[in-house]
Amino acid sequence: MRIVVLGDLHFYQLAVWPWQLCSKRLLGQTNLWLNRRRHFKPALWPAVRDQVIARAPDAVLCSGDFTTTALPGEFRTARAAWADLVEKAKPSLGSFVVPGNHDRYTYTSARKHLFEGAFGQWTSQEWPAQWILGSQTHLIGLDPTRPNRFNASGKLGTPQLSKLRACLNEIPAGHRILILCHYPIGTPEELPDEAPGHGLQDTNALIDTLAESERPITYIHGHIHWPWKWTPPRAPNVIAVNAGAPMLTGSRYPQGQGFLELEIPETGGEIGTSRQEPNDKGSWQAASP
Ligand SMILES: [Fe+2]
Ligand SMILES: [Fe+2]
Repeated sequence: MRIVVLGDLHFYQLAVWPWQLCSKRLLGQTNLWLNRRRHFKPALWPAVRDQVIARAPDAVLCSGDFTTTALPGEFRTARAAWADLVEKAKPSLGSFVVPGNHDRYTYTSARKHLFEGAFGQWTSQEWPAQWILGSQTHLIGLDPTRPNRFNASGKLGTPQLSKLRACLNEIPAGHRILILCHYPIGTPEELPDEAPGHGLQDTNALIDTLAESERPITYIHGHIHWPWKWTPPRAPNVIAVNAGAPMLTGSRYPQGQGFLELEIPETGGEIGTSRQEPNDKGSWQAASP
């Protein structure tokens, strides 16, 4: 079984009505005009989409942040792109997505359930969500996103963590466990720590919950726009993989950061993790996560 995971797509809209700026969106749009639009290139989307299709995945996942400031127009663009991808890739097991903090950027966007309105057919109304891929692979979706006045933090809270614990306990031995959540559970040693106010407020409680289960878990996330694969020292049973941002360009990734692939053997054995990356000429190659 091959699973493709796309990370922070961050579709955006530069033109907004003045009344749409009476919120945290003023900060987001200022950052978009001054900085983000120079690095995020929506024009790369068709190449990303076509490469996902070429990989013939059995399932397609997104770890959230489809939008930039949760504008209705951004959701329309992101939904159209995702629907087009799913229709053309025809993943036999389906498509599953979770929201990112940018998809609940303002209190109004969260109250109006704009994310659910756009992605309802591929997401859940209740968290944790549990989807079965094939006969023995369990995909658990988490949603710690919530609008904040000034920062980008998220929080799962005790009820969602308790349900996650119960969920992990109920999965039969030998079955595989994948968790899809926007926020990381820490950063690899060689990278700087996440800035205060940017991460999951209850990261330690989540790591404890994952470690307590003592089950092999592949934890799939995004949020920090840099791909990696890492095991947190406090949860040696967990492999955390960051999907990266496919349309974010920079010196290391001049054509975007590509996407993540998981290969799940039918007959047991380790889950394979690799990446598909475009090189500076735009052709794609396999890379380590
Ligand atoms: Fe993001
Ligand atoms: Fe994010």
